[in-house]
Amino acid sequence: MDSFEIEGGPALRGEVSLSGAKNAALPIMAAAILTRDKLILHNVPRLRDATTMITILNRLGVQSEWVGDDTLELQVTDERQTAADYDLVRTMRASICVLGPLLARRTRAQVSYPGGCVIGPRPIELHLKGLRALGANIEVEHGDVIAESVDGLIGNDIYLGGPRGSTVLGTANVLCAAVLAEGQTVIEDAACEPEIVELAHCLNQMGAKISKIGSKRLEIEGVEELHGTEFTIPYDRIEAGTFMVAAAITKGNVLVKNVQREHLGAVFDALRGIGVEMIPENDRKDMRVIGPASFHHVDLVTGPFPALPTDMQAQHMAMLCLADGISVVTERIYPDRFMHAAELNRLRANIRKEGASAIVQGVDYLSGAPVMASDLRASAALVLAGLVARGKTTVKRVYHIDRGYENIEQKLEQLGARIKRVKDESDMP
Ligand code: EPU
Repeated sequence: MDSFEIEGGPALRGEVSLSGAKNAALPIMAAAILTRDKLILHNVPRLRDATTMITILNRLGVQSEWVGDDTLELQVTDERQTAADYDLVRTMRASICVLGPLLARRTRAQVSYPGGCVIGPRPIELHLKGLRALGANIEVEHGDVIAESVDGLIGNDIYLGGPRGSTVLGTANVLCAAVLAEGQTVIEDAACEPEIVELAHCLNQMGAKISKIGSKRLEIEGVEELHGTEFTIPYDRIEAGTFMVAAAITKGNVLVKNVQREHLGAVFDALRGIGVEMIPENDRKDMRVIGPASFHHVDLVTGPFPALPTDMQAQHMAMLCLADGISVVTERIYPDRFMHAAELNRLRANIRKEGASAIVQGVDYLSGAPVMASDLRASAALVLAGLVARGKTTVKRVYHIDRGYENIEQKLEQLGARIKRVKDESDMP
């Protein structure tokens, strides 16, 4: 398996361009199932997860073609297939977002029931509850979710809140089904994440009638058919946050380009609390990030948008390992998402888990060591720590990072980091 070798030390300097957002791209790609016309998507990141989604769609009769660097054209040519292959689905939990589109357009969907993953249990009962409320008949058999709507879906009032608040992909699934349901659907406690906002805008461009986009109450008037469109995936807010931490943790000075400020309020707030300087430039489109001489300790709590994203928790924790006191980092989305803590401790950090929180006692320095990536954002945190750890850090199993960060090592190298990929031809997930 590929690994990264990082020599810690250099302060990062220069400019970095972001890629399209993985978590916006995946459900929007799945929405191609909803029409027979062409869906042309720009700014699609070339990531392992995008490739997996393309393969799943191909097997579901959707033709795909990359045009240039980041434009992806998708078009349904055969609507007979309704089952997504287990072999692919098991490698990417986000595959579940083909469920709603398949059910709505082909009246049947079979997708394997996602298991837990390293960040904790990842249930889907809210997805199923929402689809059942639209009239789908859903069974779980032999590890698959089998959903059918022979008589068509009918709009309904659906409360989609769960024990941890709203669900991002659950909202995506129910929304994609409701746009073709008969009559009105209201989704209460819908996810307000920017990725859902973008999906809703794309669906409206395809002819859907969704209103109150961005609120916790989505209203949908069902339509008979959707048509093709051309849509641009927004820049990745988590990649933006990750590069901001990279600049800050190395006490560098980096211009992060095309930062969507309205998506990053809580991340900015956390960084400012730690002492990081942020200066908007170029009509406020880009953000200059300047690392402070020392990091203040802060307490952080993750939550649904607009709170601090769980997908930025591990990266912030890497920086708090070097803060001037004790920080408490609390997970409100995935209470067990702390696998990176034990690996950061191998780099001489001092982190203790207490329930859904991690108590991070700042240390003077981190010390390079071999560490093991456990999931996408944990891997990013280990890379960030490696950028400042004394000596060499080897981050193993970086296929996790390839799932969600496009060319991260090239982008870091261009900013002056000493990072190299050590290839392993037998790299397998
Ligand atoms: N939940 C339930 N029941 C459900 C669905 C979710 O209780 O039926 C709970 C989850 O256990 C969790 C919370 O609700 O505690 C939120 O989960 P959500 O459904 O919102 O997560 P997701 O849609 O499966 C997406 C992102 C994740 C990101 C979460 C939270 C994609 C492809 N994935 O997952 O991204 O952490 O939202 O914002 O959009 C990542 O990119 O590294 C990643 C894991």
